[in-house]
Amino acid sequence: MHNNSQYDVVIIGSGAAGLTLALDLADKAKVAIISKSQITEGSTYYAQGGIAAVLDAADSIDAHCADTLVAGAGLCHEDAVRFTVERSREAIEWLINQGVAFTREDATAENAHPTSSPNIEADNASDYHLTREGGHSSRRIIHAADATGKAVSETLVKRLYEHPSIKTFEHHVAIDVIVERDKPSPVCGGVYVLDCETNAVKTFQARFVVLATGGASKAYLYTSNPDGASGDGIAMAWRAGCRVANMEFNQFHPTCLYHPQAKSFLITEAVRGEGGKLLLPDGTRFMQNFDERGELAPRDVVARAIDHEMKRLGSDCVYLDISHREPEFIQSHFPTIYQRCLDLGIDICKQPIPVVPAAHYTCGGIVVDQRGATDISNLYAIGETSFTGLHGANRMASNSLLECIVYAQAAANSILQKLDHAEWQSVPSVWDESQVTDSDEDVVISHNWDELRRFMWDYVGIVRTSKRLERAQHRAHLLRKEIAEYYSNYKVSSDLIELRNLALVAEIIINSALSRKESRGLHYTLDYPNENEFAHDTVLYPPTFRAKKPAQQTDQTDR
Ligand code: FAD
Ligand code: SIN
Repeated sequence: MHNNSQYDVVIIGSGAAGLTLALDLADKAKVAIISKSQITEGSTYYAQGGIAAVLDAADSIDAHCADTLVAGAGLCHEDAVRFTVERSREAIEWLINQGVAFTREDATAENAHPTSSPNIEADNASDYHLTREGGHSSRRIIHAADATGKAVSETLVKRLYEHPSIKTFEHHVAIDVIVERDKPSPVCGGVYVLDCETNAVKTFQARFVVLATGGASKAYLYTSNPDGASGDGIAMAWRAGCRVANMEFNQFHPTCLYHPQAKSFLITEAVRGEGGKLLLPDGTRFMQNFDERGELAPRDVVARAIDHEMKRLGSDCVYLDISHREPEFIQSHFPTIYQRCLDLGIDICKQPIPVVPAAHYTCGGIVVDQRGATDISNLYAIGETSFTGLHGANRMASNSLLECIVYAQAAANSILQKLDHAEWQSVPSVWDESQVTDSDEDVVISHNWDELRRFMWDYVGIVRTSKRLERAQHRAHLLRKEIAEYYSNYKVSSDLIELRNLALVAEIIINSALSRKESRGLHYTLDYPNENEFAHDTVLYPPTFRAKKPAQQTDQTDR
């Protein structure tokens, strides 16, 4: 049951990060892009607000950097922040040249849906409408109405299909990367992948493997993320021997739609950026009691304030009201949200929207340098799965898509520089299934999945205590052992692969949270309510970690 394939580069994940990288490599390398669902599925497709970039003449790189550092609560790596922000304009120009049709300044009800206008230079940024979101000191979010991710994803996928050197594998789930350890430093040489249509495990041999697998917010019961956000890349990298950092900083988005039929539907922060007010059930505003920036305070502050008010009042939700704006403005700037709410009986031009916080973004991840290179030679990580140091203790809105593009481009440059002299590693061609049978107890998977996500929500959520974290740690440890046993006895399935990864990542989140003896950014614990004087990252080392030999770190851009 195996099928070998050889590619210069295998990219796991087809979100903004994976697609950008594939397109940047395509002229010079044979590339495979592996995606566990259909190609557009992933957080990227659902991104609403937009992409932060320095495009306005009144804005500056220094101001964007300063805002990012403030939101990051003392933990951002300044070099990563500057590296990213300095490349923001170039990243947007690249997207525009690929054909992404961002909303123009004169958006009205008639023309608010972005018009397709490829090959325009973003020379005149005033052509584009820039919106505002929490933590940003000026308007700097370029967007495609309220469906920016869909515009980015569909455009890049269209370009992808034009390249004969990129082969796509949809409904293929990466299980583990293959690492050659019998070397001075470990080297990645490929990846095992489950083909969900045939149930066969394939071996992909590659000179470079790139994890672009997105975040891990599915570790929580309530999340804005699509189903696949199970932290697969982080788990694979950890098992392979890579360090993972700052996983206690899981971001909760303050405003997800609260409605029984609205699973995972976000109400973009841009609604607050355009004047939306947060209200208690009795109609009073409350954000000014928590932060002078009101509704536009950074996300950690707003989510905590909502959580506090909901617990204080025993209410199921709070409300977000934009109905004071002209209906024409609302319908043209937020067409997706307007329609979705209307379908559920909420007319946002007339009524406030019921909202609750939900797990949204994984600020931590696989430790990488400024090229996206991990601790293992020839293994890269880009996008939400990586830890670049950009986000610190709290990601500023719309910096994520920017990071995906900037680091994908940096990884492409690094891989292209090394491509000609990168050796193939020998990889086992057969996935050993001699000791396992078909599972006859799939209920174990769904039960464990529910249990894990529920205790993560209850014990490792917006407000934490050491006792709750210890309870969660105990349960996570038991679950992971049970799942490991199940994994070694039964044939793999996509659900089992995800559950195994999620259980590992949940334990990493809990262990990271327990080791931080302070409250900072997104990590808030009643036992240590104050911020320590000195900020430090939480870096966890897997048992298989081996330091890279210094001779391999030749690139000038290494941190
Ligand atoms: P994703 O887009 O999540 O893609 C991950 C890919 O990896 C998918 O193709 C998935 O199928 C694949 N994959 C995962 N595991 C495996 C595996 N084991 N095998 C094979 N394939 C695998 N950020 C902003 O900057 N601006 C916004 O406006 C914004 N809005 C958002 C709105 C929502 C609702 C959400 C959920 C997020 C939003 N974010 C926003 C965050 C941002 O969208 C994500 O951080 C970003 O899109 C992540 O891109 P990515 O390429 O790293 O991963
Ligand atoms: C949003 O549109 O509110 C999401 C933006 C982000 O997560 O950066």
